[in-house]
Amino acid sequence: MKIGRNDPCWCGSGKKYKYCHEEFDKKVEKIRLEGHVVPPRKLIKTPEQVEKIRKSAVINRACLDAVAERIHEGMSTLEIDEIINEVTYGAGAIPAPLNYAGFPKSVCTSVNDQVCHGIPSKDVILKEGDIVNVDCSTILDGYYSDSSRMFMIGEVSEKKKKLVRVTKECCDLGLAEVKPWGFLGDVAEAINTHAMENGFSVVREIGGHGVGLEFHEDPFVSYVINRGEGMLLAPGFMFTIEPMVNAGTCQFYTDEENKWEVFTLDGEPSAQWEYQVLVTEDGYELISW
Ligand code: MF3
Ligand code: CO
Repeated sequence: MKIGRNDPCWCGSGKKYKYCHEEFDKKVEKIRLEGHVVPPRKLIKTPEQVEKIRKSAVINRACLDAVAERIHEGMSTLEIDEIINEVTYGAGAIPAPLNYAGFPKSVCTSVNDQVCHGIPSKDVILKEGDIVNVDCSTILDGYYSDSSRMFMIGEVSEKKKKLVRVTKECCDLGLAEVKPWGFLGDVAEAINTHAMENGFSVVREIGGHGVGLEFHEDPFVSYVINRGEGMLLAPGFMFTIEPMVNAGTCQFYTDEENKWEVFTLDGEPSAQWEYQVLVTEDGYELISW
């Protein structure tokens, strides 16, 4: 697609191309020719889109704040689903997981050896010593936000406590690597190195994704690739940092009956935190957490 230098920029800013994304495009093309994967234009959010996504994220964070306040021993994971519905619909938004590829509930609740995609149920009662990931995704006005947090129920074993802490540290170390003109591999290497140094393993086949205009946009975000590999972090690119970190082996299996719930193969616990991140001109903006 050829744009004249005096034509309106493709990003929709209304500015002339030469005063807007022309330099950006040249830089991205140069990096592409060096052999890197670069984000196509549709993955670069405009300021207007970012503003809408931020509003979605306000509700996404409010959902997890409400869960943090109300989660307790003896409650079912279905009650967590009810909290998500109450906060989400109360704010005029829609829970993204509901009916997504047939997912039956509004949030994922993954307990102990559940790696991800746990289905809330009245039969799953949280008990002392459990660790649970609550993964919440919100649609407001067609714009998506996605983040998850870990919760510990009462007194938890030292092993689980360390797993939850180290997984959070992995996300923070990955986040610190987000800067314009870096690569997704910079984030991944920081995460995988910290997990391995602590004796843990990072799940390989399930990972993060682009996000904002859709629930799951390109690319697939791996946390086991190396520095300098993976997609270019161009300003305006938005993605999730959401490594699944296992206390034991990184191998897993999927429940054959519901085809959703993922468990560690060795029965050891798994943890995950999820950040939604925007690459900016001078670093990153944490959109949801
Ligand atoms: N929220 C998950 C993610 O972080 C995706 C869950 S898919 C669902 O990408 F259908 F289970 F919700
Ligand atoms: Co996600």
